[in-house]
Amino acid sequence: MALKKKKLMSKDASRKLISAVDPKSPISEQYRTIRTNIQYSSIDKEIRAIMVTSSGPAEGKSTTVANLAVTFAQLGKKVLLVDADLRKPTVHHTFGVDNLWGFTTILTKQKTLAETVVETGEQDLYVLTSGPIPPNPAELLSSKSMEQFIEEAKEQFDYVLFDTPPLLAVADPQILANQCDGTILVVFSERTEIEQAKKSKELLEHAQSKLLGVVLNHKEVKNSDYYYYYGAK
Ligand SMILES: Nc1ncnc2c1ncn2[C@@H]1O[C@H](COP(=O)(O)OP(=O)(O)OP(=O)(O)O)[C@@H](O)[C@H]1O
Ligand SMILES: [Mg+2]
Repeated sequence: MALKKKKLMSKDASRKLISAVDPKSPISEQYRTIRTNIQYSSIDKEIRAIMVTSSGPAEGKSTTVANLAVTFAQLGKKVLLVDADLRKPTVHHTFGVDNLWGFTTILTKQKTLAETVVETGEQDLYVLTSGPIPPNPAELLSSKSMEQFIEEAKEQFDYVLFDTPPLLAVADPQILANQCDGTILVVFSERTEIEQAKKSKELLEHAQSKLLGVVLNHKEVKNSDYYYYYGAK
């Protein structure tokens, strides 16, 4: 597939992603640890289509998936980050690109993946913005064209990462979980209720998704830990 360089990620936008801006920071190191753990999960079955979700809103799904996408691309793997949050998409903001078309344009067969994908300023990292928000996201995600999309995306890219809406709010993440090779659940330190996290795990099991792991986001780090990390570099 010939990927055209349509729009470059603006420098300002790229600054938001710590993995891109400061790969040596302790936080970027943590994203690399998550990447390594995902790779270890791939021993029995290849894990290349991965979604990131959380129980509720604003727990760090979009932040986590975008940093992971950068981190995988830094390995020289060709990565596609797909904005499958068809309720509150943000990938176009994060990467400073427009969102006239994208994922939904492909699912409704108005454009192809090659016509829609956007090359970012990060080597080997491509993004697919959400496209126009449809009235029926769950229906689109369970369509035959979604199956074809995942197949094609996995042919063209080493890793396909999906940003999603909250699991306890809408059915979309469960539908997607069933089609991806694995799911990462983000929990927000001291905010996500244990019951909500358990319910999310149940829903993912029900969707027959492989739960790759849980990311504890926004964990307060004591100063002494920072010294340790810096010292360990
Ligand atoms: N570890 C963190 N440290 C500081 N700020 C964070 C962290 N994680 C997320 N944020 C900030 O919290 C806000 C919500 O994060 P994000 O958009 O990633 O969550 P989300 O789960 O995708 O939200 P939504 O449910 O609205 O899609 C953002 O402004 C983001 O920059
Ligand atoms: Mg989000």
